[in-house]
Amino acid sequence: MASSRPIGSVRFENNNRVVIVTGGSMGIGEAIVSAFAASGADVIIADVTAPESNKLPNVSYQRCDTASQKDCDAVVQHAISSHGAIDVLVNNAAIQPRESYHPIDGVPESVWQRMIDVNLCGYMRMASCVLPKMKGQESGVVINVASGQAHRTAREVGVYGPIKSANVMQARQWGIEYARDGIRVLSVSPGAIDTPMIRASLDEQGGSGALANRHPIGRIGTPQEVADAVLWLTSSAASFVTATDLEVDGGLGALGAFADPYPMIE
Ligand SMILES: NC(=O)c1ccc[n+]([C@@H]2O[C@H](COP(=O)([O-])OP(=O)(O)OC[C@H]3O[C@@H](n4cnc5c(N)ncnc54)[C@H](O)[C@@H]3O)[C@@H](O)[C@H]2O)c1
Repeated sequence: MASSRPIGSVRFENNNRVVIVTGGSMGIGEAIVSAFAASGADVIIADVTAPESNKLPNVSYQRCDTASQKDCDAVVQHAISSHGAIDVLVNNAAIQPRESYHPIDGVPESVWQRMIDVNLCGYMRMASCVLPKMKGQESGVVINVASGQAHRTAREVGVYGPIKSANVMQARQWGIEYARDGIRVLSVSPGAIDTPMIRASLDEQGGSGALANRHPIGRIGTPQEVADAVLWLTSSAASFVTATDLEVDGGLGALGAFADPYPMIE
């Protein structure tokens, strides 16, 4: 299947840009942090967990639980006082605990409430903290990391999926609201990506082979492939792109409902 034809390559420049990535200590967020840092940006990781290794001088870590208004305010204040600007916010921190893989009447309230606090309100909290600064600058980009499950559902993601849909609509809403302030807001919707989150739920997804096979490309994605999409969307090459969603999913969404059949009725 591999072709010997040359493929085009791109390089993004992010010198002097200031970027906040929530949930940037591992998985997709970590790849987004590395991609921005390698292209010259000053990056602030806002995460409940410290990154395992961070040797890059232009990456700093602020402990932040995005469910806490105080923590979100502190990260944004730190970014402004140490760098003077905020050019990009990537809302990426989200949770999908094992106990949430049930129809909603089987999900404890404490679990779904925490998912709402982090996955929905966390995105709103961080955006409302950075948008006044971006308005003052008359520039900025906000990216909400959503999911393929924002667009079409599967069984037992009754909490996660609807909140991911809301992340897409947050981006559309904020995108139209702030377009004339020079601010673009977008969402990206990954298919299955090889991260700790997906590895923790392989059984629920039918195992790694079945999960890979569900993607027309024949494999799951890498965190780098999502980071590449984010770098494009936040660059001047996407300057007329706002208030919309980009699916980064190896064709998963196009395959749709036929990919995940119900068990046979006896
Ligand atoms: N991995 C996938 O297949 C996949 C597919 C579609 C969408 N997504 C989305 O991509 C994003 C990243 O997913 P991932 O797979 O890299 O997850 P992950 O679990 O591997 O990493 C998530 C990171 O967020 C941090 N985090 C968790 N709760 C937090 C909180 N309250 N405040 C701050 N940080 C917090 C964690 O410490 C961790 O560093 C999420 O929004 C997820 O819903 C992932």
